[in-house]
Amino acid sequence: MATESREIHLVQRPQGMPTPADFAEVTITLADPGEGEVLVRNLYMSVDPAMRPRLSVGQALNEAMGGGALGRVVKSRNPAFAEGDLVNNRFGFREYFLSDGKGLNKLNPDPALPLTVHMHALGGTGFTAYGGLLHIGALKDGEQVFVSTAAGAVGSVAAQIAKIKGCYVVGSTGSDDKAAWLKDDCGLDAVINYKKEPIGKALRAAAPKGIDVYFENVGGDHLDAALANMNTLGRIAVCGMISGYNNDGARTEVRNLSNIIYGRINLRGFVATDFMHLYDQFRADMTGWLKDGKVKYQETVLDGIANAPAAMIGLMNGLNSGKMLVKLAD
Ligand SMILES: NC(=O)c1ccc[n+]([C@@H]2O[C@H](COP(=O)([O-])OP(=O)(O)OC[C@H]3O[C@@H](n4cnc5c(N)ncnc54)[C@H](OP(=O)(O)O)[C@@H]3O)[C@@H](O)[C@H]2O)c1
Repeated sequence: MATESREIHLVQRPQGMPTPADFAEVTITLADPGEGEVLVRNLYMSVDPAMRPRLSVGQALNEAMGGGALGRVVKSRNPAFAEGDLVNNRFGFREYFLSDGKGLNKLNPDPALPLTVHMHALGGTGFTAYGGLLHIGALKDGEQVFVSTAAGAVGSVAAQIAKIKGCYVVGSTGSDDKAAWLKDDCGLDAVINYKKEPIGKALRAAAPKGIDVYFENVGGDHLDAALANMNTLGRIAVCGMISGYNNDGARTEVRNLSNIIYGRINLRGFVATDFMHLYDQFRADMTGWLKDGKVKYQETVLDGIANAPAAMIGLMNGLNSGKMLVKLAD
């Protein structure tokens, strides 16, 4: 029996901030799986900042968009998958899809943790924070740390790992509610609401002993502020630069780059696949921290595929506290 599925297409390239008119909801009909195929129903899809540059370059127009998702196999004619299997996939922005099994990764969720945790703290964003801070940032116990977008999916995990390692941690974020959660629930030492006070002045006051490791998620004025306060031999782990993602070429402007010379600052970009050798250790550490309540998390879950564009736009506006997800099915 055929299956109707709704999916989100990009229909025009955003100029600056994306708008609802850049997207369209399209209903398609999927045939039953053929020999060797499975039909997957997505339960949750992830919405990530890295999608924004792809809306300008990379994402094809008038096709279902791509993105991380967690789905359930609902029909299988592939011996490697049973009906009911949970599968991580890159076929987000759609309710159902057919697959020959390539690109599907079976998930055996930890029954003691909520399923969605595997899509952030115990998944890609958590691993990015873990490796970015400990491997790329070469964090040492007790150092001075600054994390930007500290209430987001990656930032909140990076900031809390730094606390677990006994560091003095400053975070920046864009609302008082998020700042309060970081201070009161996550135990950060200082939090800056960058929408209320200039980040440069605020960071100087919040980090009186300077910064040994900056976990960079924003670029622009945040990077300038960090560069002006880095300690000698400091490390800047460049995870993302979201403040530039609405610009052509995801451009960001930085003025204090020459500070890296005499400060002997190591500024290094990375992607999570750079440290796959840490994956098993990450899973063990993070599972323990989540169960012990040492790493806390927040989720912003919008309901239904029709809200996927709003989730994408909201991510660029700071609508989310913690991981931005769209729930597609129970
Ligand atoms: N290198 C990698 O492998 C990798 C993997 C995943 C993510 N990343 C990067 O990590 C960063 C965070 O990603 P995430 O998935 O955890 O997203 P997130 O932080 O959960 O969500 C994005 C947040 O960015 C903040 N923001 C938006 N526009 C901003 C601006 N102009 N200036 C300052 N802050 C702004 C907003 O929070 P506020 O309320 O605080 O403004 C928003 O909630 C992004 O830069 C992303 O590209 C990199």
